Amino acid sequence: MKKKKLDSRRFLIAGITVGIMVTIIIGLGVYFLTFSKGEANLLVIYHWWSSPGEAKALSGLVGLFNERYPNEIVEPILITGGPGYKLREVIKTLILAKEAPDTFQMHPTYEAKPYFDEGLLQPVDDIWKSNNLEKVIPKVVQSMCKFNGHYYEVPIDIHRVNLIWYNKKILDENEINPSSLTTWDAFFDACDKLKAAGRQYPIQISAGWTGAHCFESIIASQGIDFYEDWVNGKVTSAEDERLVKSLEILKKYLSYVNPDYAEFDWWNNATSRIISGEGAFNLMGDWANGDFKDAGMQYDRNYGSFPVPGTGNMYGLCIDTFQRLKNINHPKNLERWLQLVASKEGQDTFNPIKGSISARTDANVTKYDLYQKSAILDFVSVKYMFPSVVHGSGAPEDFKLKLADVMSEFMEDQNVTDTAAELTDYTKSIQDEYTINWELN
Ligand code: GAL
Repeated sequence: MKKKKLDSRRFLIAGITVGIMVTIIIGLGVYFLTFSKGEANLLVIYHWWSSPGEAKALSGLVGLFNERYPNEIVEPILITGGPGYKLREVIKTLILAKEAPDTFQMHPTYEAKPYFDEGLLQPVDDIWKSNNLEKVIPKVVQSMCKFNGHYYEVPIDIHRVNLIWYNKKILDENEINPSSLTTWDAFFDACDKLKAAGRQYPIQISAGWTGAHCFESIIASQGIDFYEDWVNGKVTSAEDERLVKSLEILKKYLSYVNPDYAEFDWWNNATSRIISGEGAFNLMGDWANGDFKDAGMQYDRNYGSFPVPGTGNMYGLCIDTFQRLKNINHPKNLERWLQLVASKEGQDTFNPIKGSISARTDANVTKYDLYQKSAILDFVSVKYMFPSVVHGSGAPEDFKLKLADVMSEFMEDQNVTDTAAELTDYTKSIQDEYTINWELN
């Protein structure tokens, strides 16, 4: 009787021990699946699309992904701060900690180069091939997405950077014809007219990088040869007349801008103040178009745009892409995402909301607004394309970051001589980083 009791107690203890061990093993399994490799049905995407129009465009694309794969979860993680400047710091930290996301928003060429150089990227030739992208992506974009003859990025859009957006009601009331603003003199005359009519700050601008954004378009306005020299690291003399003239134009431009610019990013005062009618002009890429639309405005009726004076025959390129990193947690979902990004349906869902044009030439034009229809035509008819420095492609990463800092200072002190010296000294000091030879002419 006593032995029987002892046996059953042993049996009970053994049972409990096995139970605990099984629970621990299952728990560890679940833990490793969930946390070390990530939940199997997840896709983690980092981006900096924070304005209402940008956020909507991304949701549209994510929505399409969810329609195709209802059991998968997309987790977009927003890192605001400049056009991706903050995001890249975060990505670097994540990669070092071996916690890289599945993919992230990235501009091609120089911005992608550090990841390529470190051996972190895998080619995406297969995605290009299965979507026949070489047939539909313009040559200029193709070459920007390649390293050593292989594709490393899938482009989702083509943005134009050299545009000035305006509030149509204000220009109409002041009898300013936007299509006549093709020279800096004509543009500044229009600003003077608005000032005389009581608008102290006809131009709206935001924090540092938006000053750099204006500056690069001003550089382009001094001729494609100058821009080509600039992106090839050949503007190395502080006395270069074209550089000095560009800074003088920016200085004059800044005499018309809102003094509270430093507190804001591009959307939340500059573009939104053109929408609200507090300001007349905002020099910005055509992602602004997405926000005018999101605010319920109609192109050519409530707002409009024209090329930055002197750049009518140029298309300043800013391209968003996604890539395939090595050792990511959810390769299957990434594959699905890249296929969607590459597809006509994906691009025709995202771009009509984003304000940009599709990176594909076979877009369904009926889905695009009036501005976009004209941009599609401009893209094929302009004489020159130039890669944006501020938006990652035109010049080495270090120069881009330096430019944003220098321009922040310039917006404060407007010292032409010192700024020309600082920029050219810096260019000279990083000559070995200029590894791309742009031929823009
Ligand atoms: C650019 C990006 C665009 C837009 C813009 C402002 O660098 O390529 O898609 O988001 O920044 O956020």
